[in-house]
Formats: sequence, C-alpha cells, structure tokens
Amino acid sequence: MRLPTPPLPKALRRSPPRPGENDRRNGGGGGGPATKPTAKDQAVEGVAGVVGWLDERTGASPFLRGFLYRKVPKGTNWFYTLGSATLFAFLSQAVTGVFLAMYYEPDPTRAYESASRITNEVFLGEFVRGMHRWGSTVMIILIFLHMGRTFFFGAYKYPRELNWVIGVVLLVLVLLMGLTGYLLPFDQRSFWATVVAVNLNASGPIVGPYLADFLRVGSEFGPTTIARFYSLHMLLVPGLIIALIGAHLYLVAKLGTTAPPWLKAEKKDLLREEV
Ligand code: HEM
Repeated sequence: MRLPTPPLPKALRRSPPRPGENDRRNGGGGGGPATKPTAKDQAVEGVAGVVGWLDERTGASPFLRGFLYRKVPKGTNWFYTLGSATLFAFLSQAVTGVFLAMYYEPDPTRAYESASRITNEVFLGEFVRGMHRWGSTVMIILIFLHMGRTFFFGAYKYPRELNWVIGVVLLVLVLLMGLTGYLLPFDQRSFWATVVAVNLNASGPIVGPYLADFLRVGSEFGPTTIARFYSLHMLLVPGLIIALIGAHLYLVAKLGTTAPPWLKAEKKDLLREEV
C-alpha cells in the first residue's frame, strides 16, 4: 500500500492571507487596505521562495519529503538516537581531520615534529587535535552502543539483515581507522603499540601474514609504512565508510526502523491471517 505524501512542514507553508490583506498571490485586488507583512512573514516567504526555486530546478522535493518525513513506530525512544550520534561523531572526525591534515607531514623524519607543532604552535591546534583524539574513542563507544541497541531490539532480523551486515563492515572499518590513526603521532607509544597490533594481525590464520605485510609495506616497519597508514586513514577507509553510511541510511529510510520488542501489534489479524 502506498502511503500519501507527507505534508510540507508548517514553516515552509504559505500562511493564508489575513482579513483585508491584499493577496497578490491570487491575482490581488481583494478587500480593504493592504496590511504590512511582518518580518516573520517576509522571512517565511523568503525561505519558501528559495526552496521553490531549487525544487523547480531539481525536482528534489518528492524524494526529500519521502526520505525525511516519515512515520516512526510507537515506542521510539532515546536509544534510537545512537545511530545519529555515531554519524555526528564521524562528521566531527572528518572536519577535525581535514584541519589536522593541513599541518601534518606523513614522513618518518617529520611526523612527530609536525604533530607536536600542531599541539604547541598552531592556532587552536591542541583543541582540534584533542577533539580528534577523544572523538575517535567516543565514536567507537557510540558504534558499539548503537550495535547493541539494534541487536537487543531485534533490528538485525528480516528484512534488515543486509543493513546489519553493512553495519558489521562499518564497525571493522571504524576500528581500522583507530588502528591506522594511532601510528600517526609517531611517538614511542604510538609506534610500539602499532608494532604489537600489526604483529597480532600477522598471527591470524591464512590472510594474517599477508595483511601484516600489506600494512607494514614489507616484513618490517620501514620508511614508507607511515605513508601507507596515512593514505588508508585519510583516503581509502573514510571513502569506504562514507559510501557504506550512504547505503546504511538508504536502507533505514527504505525499511523504516524497528518497533521496540516489548510492543505488540494492536490488531494481530492485520499482520497475518489466522491459520
Ligand atoms: C559509522 C557507523 C554507523 C552509523 C553512522 C550508523 C547510523 C545509523 C542510523 C542513523 C540509523 C537509524 C537510527 C537508529 O536506529 O539509530 C541506523 C540504523 C541501523 N543500524 Fe547503524 N550505523 C552505524 C553502524 C552500525 C553497526 C556497526 C551496526 C551493526 C552491526 C548497525 C546496524 C544498524 C541496523 C540493523 C539499523 C536498523 C535499526 C532499526 O531498524 O531499528 N549500524 N544506523
């Protein structure tokens, strides 16, 4: 069954003309003297005008309305915000990461120095670096909480299995961001912790040794290892994450969210026929 298109939000709807207002939109001329539109009316008209201009040229409104305005199941609660919180953490990482990349140098002789320079000399550098460092931990906590919510609410079941699988890949990629980012400050702790982590990878069955060689660019950490970690951290993994978040959200919009498991359908016979 096709649901009717949801109405435009109130802020984007034109207000009906007030008594005595000269309604130019319908040909004008009606009633008594024109009243002066308030600043709020003008602002609403302005926004509606811009939205209308864009819509006429892109035809985006049916898509956007279907995507953004939808009914959510009864019982939707704060736990359903964990996915959006993870998304926000990712966006914050992306923005702070862009600024860090403006000053960071992925070269074994320069990396430590450039990272220290960001903290000690660059304007707001310590703040942005701190946000990126703490943000990575926050994102990992949030992604696990979000995964826990979808698991305990049974959201991995039919028809959302594919979204769960996409989520698992996203989880691995987010952890890979943590691993590849940890080497970049290139101090003693980050270097030796990464050596241990890559050696752990190398002990994995079948693909383990190949994966470790790929990460190290050879059998030992060398001068090009940091460039490999940097390009994975900056380009490949975030690119994949963005693409998969797109697919993940498309499926959320297409399938809707799951009702909490403690809510039962009010009319059972509406869901399935009695046998
Ligand atoms: C970058 C990481 C992720 C982002 C940005 C993200 C974002 C979102 C958002 C915004 C929603 C809709 C709101 C909500 O239910 O919270 C959602 C739903 C969902 N997510 Fe994620 N997610 C991520 C990772 C994961 C992971 C790791 C899993 C599981 C392994 C997962 C599985 C699901 C499922 C099954 C749904 C559907 C929920 C339902 O139908 O109620 N997601 N995700």
